[in-house]
Amino acid sequence: MEPLVVAIPGDGGRAGPLARQIGGEVAETEIRSFPDGETYVRIKTPVKDREVLIVASLDRPDAAFMRTYFAAETARDLGADAVGLVAPYMPYLRQDARFRDGEGVTSRYFSALVSETFDWLVTVDPHLHRLGDLAEIYSVPVEVVSAAGPIADWIAEHVDDPVLVGPDEESRQWVSAVAERRDFPSLILEKTRRGDYDVEIRDGDLGEIADHDPVVVDDIISTGRTMVEAARRLVEGGFDAPVCLGIHGLFADDALSALREVGVERIATTDTVPHDTNAIEVTGPIVEGSRRMIGGDTTSISVASGCSGSG
Ligand code: R5P
Repeated sequence: MEPLVVAIPGDGGRAGPLARQIGGEVAETEIRSFPDGETYVRIKTPVKDREVLIVASLDRPDAAFMRTYFAAETARDLGADAVGLVAPYMPYLRQDARFRDGEGVTSRYFSALVSETFDWLVTVDPHLHRLGDLAEIYSVPVEVVSAAGPIADWIAEHVDDPVLVGPDEESRQWVSAVAERRDFPSLILEKTRRGDYDVEIRDGDLGEIADHDPVVVDDIISTGRTMVEAARRLVEGGFDAPVCLGIHGLFADDALSALREVGVERIATTDTVPHDTNAIEVTGPIVEGSRRMIGGDTTSISVASGCSGSG
């Protein structure tokens, strides 16, 4: 039977294109909150003996995950053959260690919850730093797909003479993955993070990249302070304000206005997290990853690209 795609509200409209490209059907559902905030889930399309893909945008996971979890349990209860999670942005990967006494290692707790709920998982460029591989904390098969190709294509089309700038050591792997696609030059800066909004960036040798158009590339834009400080360094070094490119644009609080304040005009993100800055589509890699998972051939865990960092 054709796979059934269940969209969690806020999925950014990905369920339709994904269903079309994998030869599946989008489920008719009713997923909403009761007036007191509890979640109501109904899957109206028949589920029995079908592989179900739950598509969820987990950028604000504390709210979204309850719906995602209930949808998965409902599908299983209704007789789904298997239930997979398509989460273009995988949250809870930065608190991957106990940095201070008494802290919870939430990446492990969250991955345990997901692994108990789903049979497999597809995601895009997860934030791996101290972890080398999602398989270290996820016990179900995981297909990691890379946004590097679409990002490199976008840069080649929109920036005249690009040089990729990574704001910190952790960004090196994404920068390298994108740079390799088109032979872009690159430079990695140094970052110290003292708090959520307290970031310091030190220059690498900006002389090396003179005469190029800088594109700061990072995996996550959250408070935006990493991008802000990288942009500030480049402007102080005599460059025009850079293009800022994030794989996952979370844009917490005043991130966007803080970037505008340092003169950044061009901000591009992939559509893993629905946002006005989305300019780079990654449905293609997600479809490929989902195809590899559908049908139960989930005996091997494939990691197509890696990432890093808690800063
Ligand atoms: C950490 O190393 C990550 O790769 C990002 O640099 C970080 O999450 C960005 O966070 P923010 O936008 O809050 O500076």
